[in-house]
Amino acid sequence: MPPAGQNSPNLRPLSDDKNPSSLEGDSEAVTQIKQVDDAALEKLARAAGDLPAMPDVVDKVLSLVQDPNSEVEDLKKVIEHDPGLTSKLLRVANSAYYQRAREIASLNQAILTLGFKTLLSLTLASSTKTMFDQYNEVARQLRQKMWEHSISTAFLASMISRQSKGVLDQDLCFLGGLLHDVGKLVIGRNFPTQFARIRTAIDQHGKDQRETEEEILGFTHENLGAYLAREWNLPVPLEIAIRCHHDFESAPEHRLDVAVVDLANRLASHLGWNFTRKRVETLEGDPAVLALGLDPARLMDELDDMQSQVVELRQHF
Ligand SMILES: [Fe+2]
Ligand SMILES: [Fe+2]
Repeated sequence: MPPAGQNSPNLRPLSDDKNPSSLEGDSEAVTQIKQVDDAALEKLARAAGDLPAMPDVVDKVLSLVQDPNSEVEDLKKVIEHDPGLTSKLLRVANSAYYQRAREIASLNQAILTLGFKTLLSLTLASSTKTMFDQYNEVARQLRQKMWEHSISTAFLASMISRQSKGVLDQDLCFLGGLLHDVGKLVIGRNFPTQFARIRTAIDQHGKDQRETEEEILGFTHENLGAYLAREWNLPVPLEIAIRCHHDFESAPEHRLDVAVVDLANRLASHLGWNFTRKRVETLEGDPAVLALGLDPARLMDELDDMQSQVVELRQHF
């Protein structure tokens, strides 16, 4: 596969590995993407109960992501606190995807070999799993499906962006993939009846997801997800990825990173990692593939390999 995004005029360098600033919030983008009235959305979303809070550990790790002065030691402290998390991270670090010549046996080694930002992303993924588990109100099967879809989209996005040789922000793509559908999880949690009606309309009557959500709830899962991202103080680029994951062209910035999330989301559904399998017949002429300068036939060819890597990686979470 050729480097992604090589034909695009919007390329920007990946920030250096130690400095997590590429996920820092920018600017006017926030106001640009506030297309939905926050107050109205909050009222609607709260109608069936409080909105979920971010787990503490996610909060801590996110503030490290956004703090340009954060140190490896700060991350170590958060991780070491949780022995389960430490061993999980070591298993992931030793998986084929992160192939290293020698076994990674300690957290120090993992940070040194994988890099600060990758470890941050993996820590977030692991903590986010806890968040999914907390949603008692959502049926167990639904939570599992959502988690499988989210973690698979995250790794697919990471794999696609990895080939861009530094043009794309691999961590933003990974975290965007991980959290893109968080709005759906909250709809399932706060509006279980409406959620079931939405699923029936889509799965049994072939209705369009966003139109059905608008019809039944008055907002879409992207709107609600972006609203939550602001409530949780997630970095602005992540909020953009969540808001625009079904339409990367509407992203006010980070358009190519969002294109990766958009594409990875559809590939995850193509591989059956969603509520319903949605086959992608061809990637020829696909706007995200075109924008990223990817070779559609090669990408399709590589899917089998990506699929087995994702299956291996996600079993560690
Ligand atoms: Fe979605
Ligand atoms: Fe999705």
